[in-house]
Amino acid sequence: MARNELLAGLLGLVVVLSRAAELSSYCPVFYTEPPADCEPIPDTLFGPAVDNFGHREPDIGILEDTFDALAVLQGDYFDLHDGTWPSAIDWTGAVVETVVAGALRTLSSSLGRVDLGNLKDWKAKENLVSFLFSQVTRSYYGQDATAIRDQAYDDMQWVVLGWIEAIRFVSVHSTLHYPGNYDGNATGASRLELVSDELPWHGNNWISPFAHRALVFWHLASRGWDEKLCHGGMIWSPHVTPYKNAITNELWVTASISMYLYFPGVNSTAPSLGSDDFPERDPAFKAAAIQGYEWLMGINMTNSQGLFVDGYHVNSEVPGNVECDVRDEMVYTYNQGVILTGQRGLWAASGILLYLNEGHDLVRSVINATGWNLTSNSPVDGIIPGQLPPWRGIGRGGILEDECDASGECSQDAQTFKGIFFHHLTAFCEPLEPSGEVGVTVDTDGFRRVRGAHASACRSYVDWVQHNAEAALGTRDSHGRFGMWWGAGLFGNVTVSRSEDGIDHSAANTTDYRNHGTPDDDIWGGRWVPGSGAPSRTGNGGESLPYSDAGGELRSMVLGIRTAAGHRHRVVGDPNDRGRGRTVETQNGGLALLRAYWEMSQSN
Ligand SMILES: *[C@@H]1O[C@H](CO)[C@@H](O)[C@H](O)[C@H]1NC(C)=O
Ligand SMILES: *[C@@H]1O[C@H](CO)[C@@H](O)[C@H](O)[C@H]1NC(C)=O
Ligand SMILES: *[C@@H]1O[C@H](CO)[C@@H](O)[C@H](O)[C@H]1NC(C)=O
Ligand SMILES: *[C@@H]1O[C@H](CO)[C@@H](O)[C@H](O)[C@H]1NC(C)=O
Ligand SMILES: *[C@@H]1O[C@H](CO)[C@@H](O)[C@H](O)[C@H]1NC(C)=O
Ligand SMILES: *[C@@H]1O[C@H](CO)[C@@H](O)[C@H](O)[C@H]1NC(C)=O
Ligand SMILES: *[C@@H]1O[C@H](CO)[C@@H](O)[C@H](O)[C@H]1NC(C)=O
Repeated sequence: MARNELLAGLLGLVVVLSRAAELSSYCPVFYTEPPADCEPIPDTLFGPAVDNFGHREPDIGILEDTFDALAVLQGDYFDLHDGTWPSAIDWTGAVVETVVAGALRTLSSSLGRVDLGNLKDWKAKENLVSFLFSQVTRSYYGQDATAIRDQAYDDMQWVVLGWIEAIRFVSVHSTLHYPGNYDGNATGASRLELVSDELPWHGNNWISPFAHRALVFWHLASRGWDEKLCHGGMIWSPHVTPYKNAITNELWVTASISMYLYFPGVNSTAPSLGSDDFPERDPAFKAAAIQGYEWLMGINMTNSQGLFVDGYHVNSEVPGNVECDVRDEMVYTYNQGVILTGQRGLWAASGILLYLNEGHDLVRSVINATGWNLTSNSPVDGIIPGQLPPWRGIGRGGILEDECDASGECSQDAQTFKGIFFHHLTAFCEPLEPSGEVGVTVDTDGFRRVRGAHASACRSYVDWVQHNAEAALGTRDSHGRFGMWWGAGLFGNVTVSRSEDGIDHSAANTTDYRNHGTPDDDIWGGRWVPGSGAPSRTGNGGESLPYSDAGGELRSMVLGIRTAAGHRHRVVGDPNDRGRGRTVETQNGGLALLRAYWEMSQSN
């Protein structure tokens, strides 16, 4: 066993012992040597899951709405000429690419459910997938990789997640539809025969560049790990006073374990990486993920509602202080999301139940703090159009909300947040798969129970996701563009200001820097303004881009289901017209939410 692996295993054990003694007595699901003394895994795990969703018929309408959202995103906001979403900034563009690649994976695995009703069915489907995939590959060149190198450590890591997601799509699409393994060597058989039967999907040609970029940015981000302060953890940005925040550390866990699980290995040609080869399943990635997770869970970044707060400063008034002792209590939706992919991945790499359990605890905390009762499967507060339900910590009326949504004051950063949450909730709730670890034995009975308990817990969330999705669908304008504040229509389009939105914006130690910038005080050590990370291109809001016809074309390709006339019409006084209005980021949020609804209602 490699040293790193041993270290990872030991660290894993410490996690189990220190945080959930009761879970650690269960027999491991994956093992290299049969355990001596352990309890069988019970049928009920992961807290009080209420499987009130049951086995329902999948509603194809959800898939149609999902691809309508995708068609509008790509048709109205993507510029094929530049290979960018021009109104995005670097990091929000990386998030859009991630969500589009995820949606492609969904499309690939859902194609079988869709009947295009003509003899050219396969041709149209393949063209649809390739059409969208070519936009993803185009954006590989559109991405301003040079600018992002100099940005904060969180910015860099969105790039890693984006290209890993693209690799996952290519793998899934190939496995499902093109399982050939022809490698260009036609000896012994007719070349034509091999080509027609065995050629892998053309997208495989992109795996190496995607892997390369993910690797380069993972290495750049790894410089953010620091042990001089707070005994570990990633710092947010090399350009400001050290601040150890939830997002940078969640990204580190998620990016590292995703590299461990999905990075296919490259033989390096990048000058910045030396001439080493980088293998797949490199234990260094797993060790980094475990170390990051231990630090994050050990330092307590959650509040009394179980939600992640924003991060820790080091009090500089105490001479020689190295402790993370000044906590910022601001709560954002994306901080509840990114870690879910990390927890899911850590489970896949170890079979340790605690990771999944902590993920479900977080999801339940979020759902509860939107004012939704999972037991009764309904909002805790009555929804009366024209009245704003009370704020419950991260939403109201059962709808996920950032603190800037109701007042229409979200920055470009904050407009991206809720979609990030739902992208990672989707990843967390994918059906569990047995370990792909070499030399590991799977306890098939134990695995079946864990898989069942996980699926049933995830099903208990679907009605809440549906409640959000239906509200969000109601915010679309006549072009099919999603608004930012999903609750707007549900609450009767009440238009409120920041002082009327029911949120205590002046709560102690709470700095909404992602919307209003950092204060120029001793704690933050200087002014930072959201969106000041170099914009990728001067945006024009996507109003008059070339190629905007692709929206209509795609819509009709995606089965011609929903015509523009079917959309709700914008009304005067629409709360979602305030502030930055509808943007590529809000569209991406709608897509991520709809995809979550489709995927989670499928996985029985
Ligand atoms: C092609 O196949 C032949 C016969 O199996 C083998 O000897 C040769 O090494 C292969 N070439 C490559 C490039 O894999
Ligand atoms: C890298 O090179 C090694 C040995 O030269 C080879 O076995 C391996 O398959 C290569 N990996 C990739 C991803 O090309
Ligand atoms: C973390 O901090 C919050 C708020 O101070 C507190 O309510 C909670 O109990 C703490 N959690 C742990 C595990 O210490
Ligand atoms: C769930 O939300 C209710 C109110 O909406 C609150 O009273 C309760 O403390 C929350 N539970 C947890 C575990 O956060
Ligand atoms: C605010 O931060 C200070 C300094 O860390 C701390 O003493 C105080 O308890 C915090 N207040 C709240 C409400 O979190
Ligand atoms: C949630 O619903 C259950 C079942 O209807 C009820 O017993 C419980 O009191 C509700 N909890 C809250 C916080 O409303
Ligand atoms: C809210 O505005 C939307 C348009 O954005 C409109 O379709 C809907 O009917 C309005 N709802 C209410 C209750 O006024």
